[in-house]
Amino acid sequence: MTAEITAAEADLANRFPHEPFATRHNLAGHPLFSLPALARLAKTLPRDRVEYNAGDLEPGVKPEDVPTLDMSAEEVVRRIEQCNAWMVLKRVEVEPAYRALLEEVLTGVAQKLGHRSLEEAGFYDIQGFVFVASANATTPFHVDPEENFFVQIHGPKFFHIFDNRDRSFLTDEELEMSPSKHRNKRYDPSYEAKAQVFSLQPGDGLFVPHLWPHWVRTGDSYSVSMAITWKSPRAERLNTLLRANGLLRKYGFPQPAPGVNPVMDGVKIAAYRALRTAVEPLRRTEGMRRFLRGLVFGRQANYYYREKKA
Ligand SMILES: [Fe+2]
Repeated sequence: MTAEITAAEADLANRFPHEPFATRHNLAGHPLFSLPALARLAKTLPRDRVEYNAGDLEPGVKPEDVPTLDMSAEEVVRRIEQCNAWMVLKRVEVEPAYRALLEEVLTGVAQKLGHRSLEEAGFYDIQGFVFVASANATTPFHVDPEENFFVQIHGPKFFHIFDNRDRSFLTDEELEMSPSKHRNKRYDPSYEAKAQVFSLQPGDGLFVPHLWPHWVRTGDSYSVSMAITWKSPRAERLNTLLRANGLLRKYGFPQPAPGVNPVMDGVKIAAYRALRTAVEPLRRTEGMRRFLRGLVFGRQANYYYREKKA
């Protein structure tokens, strides 16, 4: 059976890639997402690609108030039905079986969009993020630097998403990117009046546009989901600019929002890419990635290494 995502033709034609829309998929029950398979995966991935903490949070929780868990990653997955946890397994495409699945699904989507290949559809740098969470767990309010098809695999989930074209949720400064910024963003309960809420059951999903803020909660049983992500050239360019602006602000040179000065935008993107290319060969090991994050962005950049409550 081919793993696939399906969506209404009108949504693929008119909403993609600028607005969210509901999808269906056939990954529920797939053996790569059983708890034993995910426990093995949690044990295999490098430590900086597994993040977990207590699950029963408010959507606007302050990053420093998120309680950590004193358990191994593998144990969290095995005990997910009891341990009140939230976990993300990042970059699961490093495992060939997961990579093949991600590519199979996105190739199908590319074809439905009328393209002959992943590249032609703009599906570059394909990455998978698997979320394993206990009942009544919350992923706080945040934005992601990539587009994704989110697939619900086990248990119910409620996905609250907010229009990124509306600057009343997050300011231009808050959208700038830096490893020293915690992923969680400032949130106000009054935002809910403008939320679009997708109630997901296994087999359901949605398309999440680039940088649209969202928060997510599980229902009355444990949940397994996956974000199937890629970077289109358009998203990658904007990310580079938001990282350059974040870095320049850190060193005392705040910048206008993307698009205000297109010529300077181009200069900053070229400079940041040159810097990144020079550093990339050093980022092959976890130790070096950790060291470089700390050097450029400060100690806070390694916040997710905290394992025990301070
Ligand atoms: Fe997200």
